[in-house]
Amino acid sequence: MMKTIKELFGVGPAAPIQCPDSDGPFVPAADLSYQFCEKLVRRLLLWHGGIAGRNLLVQGPTGSGKSSLIEQFCNRLGIAFLRGRCPAKQR
Ligand SMILES: Nc1ncnc2c1ncn2[C@@H]1O[C@H](COP(=O)(O)OP(=O)(O)OP(=O)(O)O)[C@@H](O)[C@H]1O
Ligand SMILES: [Mg+2]
Repeated sequence: MMKTIKELFGVGPAAPIQCPDSDGPFVPAADLSYQFCEKLVRRLLLWHGGIAGRNLLVQGPTGSGKSSLIEQFCNRLGIAFLRGRCPAKQR
């Protein structure tokens, strides 16, 4: 189905974007209280559209919202999300 970016994320332009009818496997659950930042949505859409390179670095302090940003972005667009842990090497 088609929605506007504004409808999907609560911020951004009234430009149409393809979004899923229902959640597929590995799509994160919706947090409907999540507040998107327009600047970050724009950056993620460029990355998702293949315009901003293959890899995406998200950095910030503990609890600043890195994981939830990616999870909720994936939820709105129906993107499968798998989390991999990289534990520090024990010495
Ligand atoms: N924009 C937001 N709107 C609503 N809740 C938010 C938002 N950003 C973060 N939160 C909430 O803040 C909490 C911490 O966010 P999150 O786990 O994404 O941080 P993190 O940067 O991944 O932390 P860590 O470095 O520990 O992995 C979560 O409960 C998340 O739902
Ligand atoms: Mg995290």
